[in-house]
Amino acid sequence: GSFSKKQEDLVNSSWEAFKQNIPHLSIVFYSSILEKVPIAKDMFSFLKDCDGIPLNNPTLEAHAEKIFEMIRDSAIQLGAKGEVEVADDITLEYLGYVHIQKGVTDYHFLVFKEAMLKTLKEAVGDKWSEELGIAWELAYDELAAVIKKTMCW
Ligand code: HEM
Repeated sequence: GSFSKKQEDLVNSSWEAFKQNIPHLSIVFYSSILEKVPIAKDMFSFLKDCDGIPLNNPTLEAHAEKIFEMIRDSAIQLGAKGEVEVADDITLEYLGYVHIQKGVTDYHFLVFKEAMLKTLKEAVGDKWSEELGIAWELAYDELAAVIKKTMCW
């Protein structure tokens, strides 16, 4: 699919808004996931032994930031060359391995997408638009497809 410069700009500016408030927004993100899939609490090393979702937890925040950063990178790559390639610092084989090992399913990927949109809505406030949501969805779907392909369930 094609990804316009405007869509790339929308993703970039909301990524900046996300980065301004990671301590809060990472909690919004994981809360939204656990609301739909409570059992996911046991899947994440930084959640499983906690009562609820830990505040100001560097591992949790880094994980949320990494996911949003990878989706934003996908948007840039879609804009530049029309396809997604995962950056060198983390191999696809490894990503596939981690997600298979944790028992991640297609449904989980859907829940992640909804959580991403909810988090971004909160990040950008009144700058939210349907167009902005669609741009992130496209970038997410392409990235998720690449990860799922390496999982091959
Ligand atoms: C781990 C990315 C979707 C569950 C990871 C890691 C990355 C990542 C980069 C860290 C690997 C490491 O450094 O050890 C992504 C991206 C996704 C995605 C970009 C979507 C496009 C999902 C989904 C689930 C999930 C849908 C479902 C629950 C996990 C779990 C871990 C993990 C449980 C291990 C975290 C830990 O315990 O430290 N993911 N992931 N991921 N991911 Fe995902």
